[in-house]
Amino acid sequence: MPIDETCASGLEYLALATELLQRARLADPQAGLWEAADLQWWWRTPRRSDAVEQIFWIDDEGPVAAVVLTDWGRAWSCDPIAAPGGRVPLDAVWVRAVEAIEDARLDAVEVLVRDDNVEVRNLLAGSGFVAAHERSGITWMSADDRPAVAPIPEGFVLVDRAVGTSGPHPMRRRSGEAVESRLRQCTLYDPALDLALEADDGQVAGYALFWFDPVTKVGLVEPMRVEDAYQRRGLARALLTAGLERLSQRGARRLKVGYSTDAARALYLGAGFRPTSTSRSYTRRRRVADSETEAP
Ligand SMILES: CC(C)(COP(=O)(O)OP(=O)(O)OC[C@H]1O[C@@H](n2cnc3c(N)ncnc32)[C@H](O)[C@@H]1OP(=O)(O)O)[C@@H](O)C(=O)NCCC(=O)NCCS
Repeated sequence: MPIDETCASGLEYLALATELLQRARLADPQAGLWEAADLQWWWRTPRRSDAVEQIFWIDDEGPVAAVVLTDWGRAWSCDPIAAPGGRVPLDAVWVRAVEAIEDARLDAVEVLVRDDNVEVRNLLAGSGFVAAHERSGITWMSADDRPAVAPIPEGFVLVDRAVGTSGPHPMRRRSGEAVESRLRQCTLYDPALDLALEADDGQVAGYALFWFDPVTKVGLVEPMRVEDAYQRRGLARALLTAGLERLSQRGARRLKVGYSTDAARALYLGAGFRPTSTSRSYTRRRRVADSETEAP
């Protein structure tokens, strides 16, 4: 079965990345870092990386590996992805990842790696990447173990984008004016799973987006946010339990959420999620060659 290398950008990239991550998840219930929905969430805002020709390896079943470069402003992330089964070995993906980083002349590149992924950690160390101290983590739970739906605290109302679409999208402040139109380009986005809690005066106190993947039957929580002035009143618990219930009604069998703060970890573990892996980010800054520096 031959494997071809190809390139894709924009929505064509997103479709191939979705297919690849769904294939990877079907092959292994917990491997890797990302669900297809994670990369669709990254699509919420226009980025310079939308135009990058991302590298994919394709066999006769579809995409089997990829190098994904994403522009986050402060740095670019690089995700070497290979579906379990070893059709394209990770070290071969990594060779192309390093070439792509160098070709794009990226100043700062971050690679998120699971602590249990010794192979990629060794590849990164050999390529001059340095680990950050902070750890993030992934947690999972069976949908059968989901918590009871918590009552909405008094003075707040739960809305979703399937009904409450008259006002501006609550994520526009952090994700930009295009957030709603970009999310609606995503095949896994469901406005009925795009929840917010509004205070009596119409202010958005918090929001959370839930993603159901009908291929993998995984339900993902991303993002989750309660504004500072409204924290520690049970709003996140109300959003989370309502969203997990909707995911389960859609047909999700397994639920996943990642955390990067102690508060989020406590919220998710308190709801019944169990940690399965931790990760660290590895960074490399480009050495500027003498020929590239400006003359004095
Ligand atoms: C994490 C976050 C969503 C929690 O929202 P919240 O509405 O304050 O949370 P709740 O009041 O519903 O708290 C539910 C549980 O979460 C945990 N929790 C919430 N905030 C916490 C904090 N600051 N420190 C420790 N635990 C915390 C507690 O276990 C809490 O239960 P308890 O109040 O019975 O002790 C909110 O702090 C936030 O938006 N932070 C910034 C963005 C972020 O980190 N999002 C998560 C990304 S993964």
